Amino acid sequence: MNQTFAIIKPDAVKDNKIGAIIAYLEERGVRVAAMKMVQLTRREAEGFYAEHRERGFFGELITFMVSGPLVLMVLEGENVRFRYREELMGATDPAQAADGTLRKLFARSKGENAVHGSDSDASAVREIGYWFPQHEIF
Ligand code: RTP
Ligand code: MG
Repeated sequence: MNQTFAIIKPDAVKDNKIGAIIAYLEERGVRVAAMKMVQLTRREAEGFYAEHRERGFFGELITFMVSGPLVLMVLEGENVRFRYREELMGATDPAQAADGTLRKLFARSKGENAVHGSDSDASAVREIGYWFPQHEIF
């Protein structure tokens, strides 16, 4: 069992897919251990994606992430840290994502791609800690 950090991004919230995405995960044995809906400030979004600061798409990414509310979650399950990222989320660009993955089903484009997931053990720990104090994780 382990935990990972996930976001239902503003495109999927606007598309009314919060429930569908959570159901998709629960049907595959993933448990929601923490969850909250928030509107990020620019500063929070820039801090969260600091690793991409020098990339050409950074401005667009930040504008997108503050464009509306999103849903932050801690997911728990058997090997979920790897499984969510490699099996359930799908590739960054939905055009490249495998059939049946979240991004294939729900993403609009490479930039507006429905979900986020931690990409390593270190990022999962950092990202969970960035958004959730221990007493909000069940
Ligand atoms: P994420 O961090 O959101 O889980 O996505 P990821 O690992 O699959 O992709 P990453 O390379 O970390 O990029 C972070 C987010 O930036 C946006 N992006 N836009 N327009 C573009 O070329 C482009 N490339 C990346 C996406 O929202 C991506 O998820
Ligand atoms: Mg990433």
